[in-house]
Amino acid sequence: MLDSDLSLDFLRVVEQAAIACATTMGQGDRHKSDAVAVEAMRKEMDSVPIDGTIVIGEGERDEAPMLYIGEKVGTANKAPNGRSYPEVDIAVDPLEGTNLCATGAANAIAVLAASESGGLLHAPDMYMEKLVVGPSSRDVVDLDAPVRFNLRAIAQSLGRRVEDLVVIVLDRPRHEKLIAEIRATGARIRLIGDGDLSAGIAAAVVGSGVHAVMGTGGAPEGVLTAAAMRCLNGEIFARLVVAKPGDEERAKAMGVKDLRTIYRSKDLAPGKSIIFAATGVTEGSLMKGVRFFGDGTRTTSLVMQTNPHRIRFIDSIHVSDSSNIGAKIRF
Ligand code: FBP
Repeated sequence: MLDSDLSLDFLRVVEQAAIACATTMGQGDRHKSDAVAVEAMRKEMDSVPIDGTIVIGEGERDEAPMLYIGEKVGTANKAPNGRSYPEVDIAVDPLEGTNLCATGAANAIAVLAASESGGLLHAPDMYMEKLVVGPSSRDVVDLDAPVRFNLRAIAQSLGRRVEDLVVIVLDRPRHEKLIAEIRATGARIRLIGDGDLSAGIAAAVVGSGVHAVMGTGGAPEGVLTAAAMRCLNGEIFARLVVAKPGDEERAKAMGVKDLRTIYRSKDLAPGKSIIFAATGVTEGSLMKGVRFFGDGTRTTSLVMQTNPHRIRFIDSIHVSDSSNIGAKIRF
């Protein structure tokens, strides 16, 4: 079981990643935004009292200098001193929505999920077909059912009409047919440029105005979504998609036996103890973006865990010059 206090250590990891990349917001350089988030997250991670292993990260060791799959992180790695630290598997996305940050668009977040060893699926870096719904719709939908069937079932479970639903879909040519099918039901659609992970979280939160996420996005984001769903009691239904040469081999190498498998949250994030932490980078529907105000910086984060089962929205003020900070704090 993970020590619940670790959630606050992971909070500062995502906060620092978000603050670092927020300084590049709107600069039009997504690679730079990502690089500074990765660097800040990697640096902060080394002061977390764990024997950590990155299971979902920035890529394979030879293609990513930091936070690569298999990289050891945490205090145990930095200063092995005979003390034993908990073994923790970590999935990171230091900047989910690199384009969103580079253009100053909404819903870029810095995010990670952690669990005891073996608690997060080592998903290959390929596409995944996804259907994400909130707690009341989790038992009435099926990834292979026609779109109209799923939307009718979601509407019924929420006590509203199909026309009242809002479905988020990534704005991609591959979703042309899916978008036409959703439109045919009368449901409303919010097309997004990037960021199906924060969209999935919104779908599981009552009052967000989002009722489902449909379509194909990254598999690593799928595992992070599953970790969030474990905490929110929502559900992701997902299946890997072979889209480019080498995908099948990539999946096999990560231990995937059957590409037709439909995964649910418990399959993608099976850990007994899950911690999920995210900080808003740009303005978002669930979290505000990072705000700089001279003497300090303000962040909003979502920190959730399964043991104890707790969901916290955390508003932090990081003070850089304490002389006049009182005058700057307001609700
Ligand atoms: P990045 O943060 O790597 O830019 O990914 C953002 C994202 O939109 C994810 O939210 C989504 O799962 C994936 O990219 C979709 O991939 P693609 O842009 O190739 O359609």
